[in-house]
Amino acid sequence: MKEIKEYALLNHVPIIRDQTLDALEKICKTHNPKSVLEIGTAIGYSGLKILSNCDCILTTIEKDLIRAEKAKSNFEKYNFINRVNLIQDDALNVLIRLVKNKEKFDLIFLDGPKGQYIKYYPYLKKLLNKNGILFADNVLLMGLVQSGEEIPHKKRSMIINMRKFLKILKEDIEFQTIIYDVEDGYSISKLTKK
Ligand SMILES: C[S@@+](CC[C@H](N)C(=O)[O-])C[C@H]1O[C@@H](n2cnc3c(N)ncnc32)[C@H](O)[C@@H]1O
Repeated sequence: MKEIKEYALLNHVPIIRDQTLDALEKICKTHNPKSVLEIGTAIGYSGLKILSNCDCILTTIEKDLIRAEKAKSNFEKYNFINRVNLIQDDALNVLIRLVKNKEKFDLIFLDGPKGQYIKYYPYLKKLLNKNGILFADNVLLMGLVQSGEEIPHKKRSMIINMRKFLKILKEDIEFQTIIYDVEDGYSISKLTKK
């Protein structure tokens, strides 16, 4: 899968960073989730890593048509396509549909648009099984989320929304959450009550 990483770097496709990936892979190995939901497929790099570290069925959502097509061919190339439900659509539309259909997941990897995590939160909670895990990437956004310094105007609403997301996650007594100040920051939350 080195070639997919190289393609991503060359074509400016954002993908999961190495230490964050290590943590995600460890969760897949130790919890062996049967159903995984990923928001933000890009070209399938993290999805392939999830699939190779557990026996799950992966439902993965990507809005961008070209990236979704590239992801499909990568899942085919590595012979994982029969375990993948790739949905090319806006994540919020899909989350609404999944909740309506009463779908449930053991692990959710949240790696879509950073300003939307707060909007997705209530749906994600409904979609998790008891003891399910929500793994959210980029929650510290290059230190800006916890910084007391003035936020660049262009990133203001994204940072404010991410702060709201982390606050609600930390204060939710049904979740046990740890935030890791590693790379761009990631959080791991276990839904202990339901
Ligand atoms: C950080 S990348 C995902 C990287 C991927 N998880 C990996 O590590 O290989 C985020 C992806 O979310 C997609 N995205 C952005 N807005 C979206 C939306 N509203 N619905 C679904 N996908 C979206 C982007 O096109 C982008 O490919």
